[in-house]
Amino acid sequence: MFRAVPHRRQRVRLIRFWDLLSRFDQVCMALVVGAEQSGSEVIAATVTLATGDVDRQSHTASIARGLEPNICFGLGSGVMTTNPEAFRYDGKRVLVVGGATGMGAAAARLTMALGAEAIVMDHAPIDFDVAGAIKVDLQDRSSIDSALDEIGGPIDAVFSAAGIADGPPLMRVNFIGHRHVIDRLLAQGQLKSGAAICFISSVAGIGWEADLERLIEFLGTADYEAANAWVEAHPDTNNYMFAKQAINTYVSRQALPLRKQGIRINAVCPGPTDTPLAQANADLWLTFAQEYRAEVGLDYHSPEQIAQAMAFLNSAAASGISGINLLVDSGHVMASLSGAWPADKPILDLLMGRS
Ligand SMILES: NC(=O)c1ccc[n+]([C@@H]2O[C@H](COP(=O)([O-])OP(=O)(O)OC[C@H]3O[C@@H](n4cnc5c(N)ncnc54)[C@H](O)[C@@H]3O)[C@@H](O)[C@H]2O)c1
Repeated sequence: MFRAVPHRRQRVRLIRFWDLLSRFDQVCMALVVGAEQSGSEVIAATVTLATGDVDRQSHTASIARGLEPNICFGLGSGVMTTNPEAFRYDGKRVLVVGGATGMGAAAARLTMALGAEAIVMDHAPIDFDVAGAIKVDLQDRSSIDSALDEIGGPIDAVFSAAGIADGPPLMRVNFIGHRHVIDRLLAQGQLKSGAAICFISSVAGIGWEADLERLIEFLGTADYEAANAWVEAHPDTNNYMFAKQAINTYVSRQALPLRKQGIRINAVCPGPTDTPLAQANADLWLTFAQEYRAEVGLDYHSPEQIAQAMAFLNSAAASGISGINLLVDSGHVMASLSGAWPADKPILDLLMGRS
């Protein structure tokens, strides 16, 4: 049933009209008041939208049916406006996996400020107000399953943030557990068309293409246990770089099957960022790109800087973006690889598997 709410007028530029539905979460009625078409395709339209609680899937069909070009009438008045609301999270349910501290916590706080209801999972206590704080240990599949049982209902945006620097459970915490969360949400129909996923990868993962065959073999494992068994059989892969390369490869490969379901997936690859994890590994993590930062006059990134990029990627404003591993490093990697910052070219070439 629809909940009646006041109509609001929106003028929306559309390449394909039904892309409209990826921009609004709660469209319950769209009245075409003007349209422009090119051949058989509607290229721009003016619509009046009414919003309310409605199942997006069923409404997609009814709107798409009503949009045969021959029923649109052409005012062609050049309605070309942007939609700033696409950056917001009003009415959305967000799941942050690993959101007690650092970038995950920053993503939870930011999306809440943008209107979201945030559910945060972590093995550490959550010391700020959230809609749901759920204990989870990504090292343990049954812990993940119990945590997911507590979520209830669909999730619009997943932030896969948790990570550790080293130790035996590294692959389970940094990748296998996150994949299991996504697999379960998909299997239970909790990620619907319009949903988005954003991982936190790392600059450490950028060389994934150089090890693609092995990464694809690993990603071919069917589930949590099989992936864990594969890592145990390949102990040299239980490390930070392989985990981040696995994320980058997974994001790249999942873009296609997920997009067919209307779901997007991306990752950010942060440079050194001032978080508890980085401070605990300061000698290695926070010295990386130090001279570049001195040259450009920057400090470490803040967790909020990374969260802003993640919030964008998981928002409707990024509706055309999927399968990317976005560097958020103030230009260090590209400056180095291109030779504009020659000092770090050797280390970046090494990370890319080029030498
Ligand atoms: N800080 C950096 O410089 C940097 C750079 C690149 C990538 N990263 C990545 O960013 C992500 C976030 O890290 P951060 O720097 O914000 O550090 P952080 O330690 O503040 O955040 C990591 C979160 O993961 C949680 N976590 C750890 N193990 C867990 C487990 N077994 N089960 C559930 N939750 C668990 C922690 O409690 C914490 O809340 C990590 O994936 C990390 O690899 C960090």
